[in-house]
Amino acid sequence: MKKDSLSKVHPASTGTIKWSCPSNIAIVKYWGKGPGQLPKNPSLSLTLQKSLTLTEISYKYEPSSTAKKISFSFEGEQHPAFHRRISDYIRSLHPLLPWLEHTSMVIKSFNTFPHSSGIASSASAMGALAACLVSIEEEITGTRVNDPLSKASFLARLGSGSASRSLYPGFALWGHSEAWALSSDEYAIPISGIHDTFTGMHDSILIVDPGKKKISSSAGHALMESNPYASTRFKQASENVSKLKQILLEGSWNRFINLMEEEALALHAMMLSSRPGFILMLPGTLEIIRKIRDFRMESGFHLGFTLDAGPNVHLIYDSAHANQVRAFITSDLIQHCKNKQVIHDEMGTGPSIQKI
Ligand code: DP6
Repeated sequence: MKKDSLSKVHPASTGTIKWSCPSNIAIVKYWGKGPGQLPKNPSLSLTLQKSLTLTEISYKYEPSSTAKKISFSFEGEQHPAFHRRISDYIRSLHPLLPWLEHTSMVIKSFNTFPHSSGIASSASAMGALAACLVSIEEEITGTRVNDPLSKASFLARLGSGSASRSLYPGFALWGHSEAWALSSDEYAIPISGIHDTFTGMHDSILIVDPGKKKISSSAGHALMESNPYASTRFKQASENVSKLKQILLEGSWNRFINLMEEEALALHAMMLSSRPGFILMLPGTLEIIRKIRDFRMESGFHLGFTLDAGPNVHLIYDSAHANQVRAFITSDLIQHCKNKQVIHDEMGTGPSIQKI
């Protein structure tokens, strides 16, 4: 949230606010949660730059009325499923943001990434929505929120856990970790002091299958409750967050890649060992992983993979060899992508308020 925009807070009962918020990819994964949308382990992610949601909200605050209306469109069209999720989310926030009870909103949302690209949009969508809500609260109350990004992260978490991490540039940590004094299960914090070698890292997202996930993240999280390896996994993730702190500060790409790939495979190992087990990777996913590892051995370049809850592969690499890695994607990997779809993204600068 740009500080100068926050200094100009005028009490208002109507207005329009627009925020963009990026998606993120977890390096240490969140998989398993408890009541209140609290994570079973800390997670640490890379914020992206180009894969964004833009959300515009026109609001009308009428303190004497509770006849509020929420209208919602996605990419200019009605979307009943998203509308329901957003309405339920906003209703769930009434006890925390009492002004919502008296506020009608017209919400318009757009993604910069293709609709069916397999990129999880809940992180960017909930991040953008939460940032708008914090700005609207400032306008309606005429009071500046103390730490607006932290409040937006807290609200975003209640909509989707991974969204809490999308509010910060570079790297963000969500969940209590002994390695970070200010970390919390309730909101994410930005990670600073990262070694220069990681600046501007790339994430090319190889779209093996853009289809809707067969098992939702929520169902996957719930299955962790009966997973026989759950407690070991939560411990592993906590330890990996601590290790990653050292790696990010010291600047070891090799250790970064080892840890990132361990996390991706551990996430999918949890899926395989759930009761019932499920498999989200496809043959193309495994082929791409094998080729990435072979190419790394041959070239010595800094590149590695990670996965989220689906078959698509995030290929993470440094800017020093970006041209060679792009050539490798074209010659060896793109053939495994549906309709040759690859989204070239990179480390991002975080959300920003937009001019209307
Ligand atoms: C595999 O944040 O989508 O991407 O909190 O139920 O909305 P909900 O789940 P969600 O889970 C993300 C899981 C993951 C790993 C991660 O992003 O840390």
